[in-house]
Amino acid sequence: MLGLASRTGPDWTERAIAGLDEILLDHTHCEKKAASTAINLIFRYADQTALMAPLSSIAREELAHFEQMLAVLAERGIAFRRLQPTDYAKGLKQGCRTAEPGRLLDTLIVCSLIEARSCERMQALAEALPAVGEPELGALYAGLLATEARHHGAYLQMARDTGLFGEAEIRDRSEALARYEADVLEGVHPAARLHA
Ligand SMILES: [Fe+2]
Ligand SMILES: [Fe+2]
Repeated sequence: MLGLASRTGPDWTERAIAGLDEILLDHTHCEKKAASTAINLIFRYADQTALMAPLSSIAREELAHFEQMLAVLAERGIAFRRLQPTDYAKGLKQGCRTAEPGRLLDTLIVCSLIEARSCERMQALAEALPAVGEPELGALYAGLLATEARHHGAYLQMARDTGLFGEAEIRDRSEALARYEADVLEGVHPAARLHA
């Protein structure tokens, strides 16, 4: 699905449903982080004109998701509090090259993979939640996952729009980093988190 090299199994969905409050809190943080990542890229790659508008648009959408999730937390009486991040994002960063322009390509691909993984897991939630008496939350995830799928494609399109990378290079690097992402995820301690 969406270029991912592994598929989420029912064990994750069971864990997520059993720890739904923590999933909702973690997801709220993920939206905040997604917005912050897009804004950071605007600063870091200000010379890449083609990236500015798409990154800004993603940042706005992620902040809107953040506000949506804050409302869900408030409705359920879940306090927004700090959460220790898992090793997922840190692990992915370690798989990115450090010299430009490879760093830029890898970063955009990693962003596209995070969007894809979020989308895949939101799909699992959208399917599982109605059966446990949470149809409204299921519908919310069904709505969000479409945007995350679009973000997945948008990050890959940005890699093309820089004009710095060939199609074969983008494809090869996407496949390699997808395998890497699957390994990193496999190594994260199982928890009720979107990326664990
Ligand atoms: Fe989002
Ligand atoms: Fe997103």
